[in-house]
Amino acid sequence: MKRLLKFITCGACGVIKHELCRSTNVVWQETDITREIRAQQKGQTPLTVWFTGLSGSGKSTLANEVEKRLVSIGLHTMLLDGDNVRHGLNKNLGFKESDRMENIRRIAEVAKLMNDAGVITLASFISPYESDRKNARAIIGKEYIEIFVSTPLEECEKRDVKGLYKKARTGEIPNFTGISSPYEIPENPEVQIDTSKYSIEEATDYVLKQIIKYLD
Ligand code: ADX
Repeated sequence: MKRLLKFITCGACGVIKHELCRSTNVVWQETDITREIRAQQKGQTPLTVWFTGLSGSGKSTLANEVEKRLVSIGLHTMLLDGDNVRHGLNKNLGFKESDRMENIRRIAEVAKLMNDAGVITLASFISPYESDRKNARAIIGKEYIEIFVSTPLEECEKRDVKGLYKKARTGEIPNFTGISSPYEIPENPEVQIDTSKYSIEEATDYVLKQIIKYLD
């Protein structure tokens, strides 16, 4: 019955054209409270700080530390983390290329909404494909700042915090980034940091120093 109603409300469009009809009949709704007003109310410049790198490279640790520092100076933040988002919004996605693409697309849209709300967003995702990261940049716009966490594979595998590299090597986990699935090196990241060379505190200081100019 619900389906039937959908088709009726879609007017002249036939069943086959239903998908098309939906996208052409959606009109952007203007709101009086703009993203600028929301940001102004929070007294900050919204930004999406996007951490990309291998599993175990230190993305999430770094994003967590950077967020703590931003909160400590009174800024309003949100942290989106790959493993966490895959427990909810993206629980229907796996790790094949098309799923990763959709994972990153959805996160980019969420990050943009967070920026619209005036919030500084930290996103920590392997995001292994350059085309997906470019798409995220296109969706988010000038607020997108890319941090390439370039810790080498050998170091990530040595850390193996979650024991996943071991499983990937024995074939227990298919399509594992760096082992049986590619990681494309970012072409133009705003910041690059190899966490094997610094303490967490030094790495956090470095990232903050690099992004402070975007925060005004
Ligand atoms: S992404 O490639 O789509 O950006 P995302 O950052 O969301 O990945 O999730 C990565 C996390 O999922 C890893 O930190 C790891 O804990 C877990 N994981 C499980 N299976 C895989 C896999 N095949 N490849 C990479 N990470 C995996």
